[in-house]
Amino acid sequence: MKRIALLSLALLMVAGMVFASGAAESRAGLDIGIAMPETHVERWQRDGAALLAGAQAAGYRAEVTYGDADQGRQNQQIQDFITKGARLLIVGNINEGVNSVVREAAEDGIIVIAYDRLITGSDAYDYYITFDNFKVGEFQGRAIAEALDLANVSSSSPKNITLFAGSPTDNNANFFFDGAMSILRPYVQSGALNVVGPAPLRSSDAAFTRIATENWRADVAKARMENLLSNDARDVVLDAVLAPNDTLARAIIEALAADAKYDTTDTLPVVTGQDGEIASVQAIRDGRQYMTVFKDTRDLAAGAVALADALLSGSAPSIAGARLDTETYDTGLKVVRSYLLEPVNVTAENYRQVFIDSGYYTEAELR
Ligand code: BGC
Repeated sequence: MKRIALLSLALLMVAGMVFASGAAESRAGLDIGIAMPETHVERWQRDGAALLAGAQAAGYRAEVTYGDADQGRQNQQIQDFITKGARLLIVGNINEGVNSVVREAAEDGIIVIAYDRLITGSDAYDYYITFDNFKVGEFQGRAIAEALDLANVSSSSPKNITLFAGSPTDNNANFFFDGAMSILRPYVQSGALNVVGPAPLRSSDAAFTRIATENWRADVAKARMENLLSNDARDVVLDAVLAPNDTLARAIIEALAADAKYDTTDTLPVVTGQDGEIASVQAIRDGRQYMTVFKDTRDLAAGAVALADALLSGSAPSIAGARLDTETYDTGLKVVRSYLLEPVNVTAENYRQVFIDSGYYTEAELR
């Protein structure tokens, strides 16, 4: 009994010391836990590095992890952050399976910021920072409409397109697709644009699941493109492929280029993208990929750190270059306060200005 009493006293004293060291100090040496979803899409490594550097420069003890597109693994990483006493979490999740740890964090009084991807099905957090995802899709749709001159195409000789979307568990994939289709849908409906393969007109259509790409995996998109080429697209010439990001765009281009119909730069269809990955910027320069949408990870990371800093110090957030949106992003349980940054449309015309002049890539990296 006595031993137990002494032990409890000792524990109480330790707890007291931790408490006495103030709310500004976390229990085991961590202020901000940064959980990124994956590394197979290049941008997340840049996001993770920029977030870590930004948080540390602002005086916080921070750690970054990558979840390998595996929600179970990411939950473990977030659990570790909680155990280490993190006071705030910045999370780019994989799917709704993250909700259990987000709830646990909230119950511990830990602030959660959804980073780039909305955490759906949760009411256990209040803040989200991302780019205007609908606009990303609009850029993709508009690029196709302009490159194919759809306004002057008649339904008697329509242009052919195939549709791809991102991960069905990533809320952004819906926004990208709906943004693109807001531009392309009228042409599909007028008959100027013929959809080869499954033809959802909105992300809420049942056929969306047939064009979605599990966990944004390049091999899945490549296999689907190959399959289309030997089935639905066998007897047509594709003029465009709506690809939601650069990783998938290059996988699709690889499949296309292996088909004799599309084995030169001139015969490849117009393929869209997103992120401004190095290999895609090179492909745009070389005329293989038509466009990308640049979302500067330096700005998103800086915005997230500024938001984190404001929330931790109890001041009003002011995020450079971001627009506050309190209506659009609904988790299904609540609408979260969202800070939206502006994406940039990139083609062969302006890629140098966007990537080299801004210092995002060096001349050597793009060689
Ligand atoms: C991001 C994109 C990225 C994709 C795959 C999306 O949530 O917004 O930038 O290409 O995930 O990682």
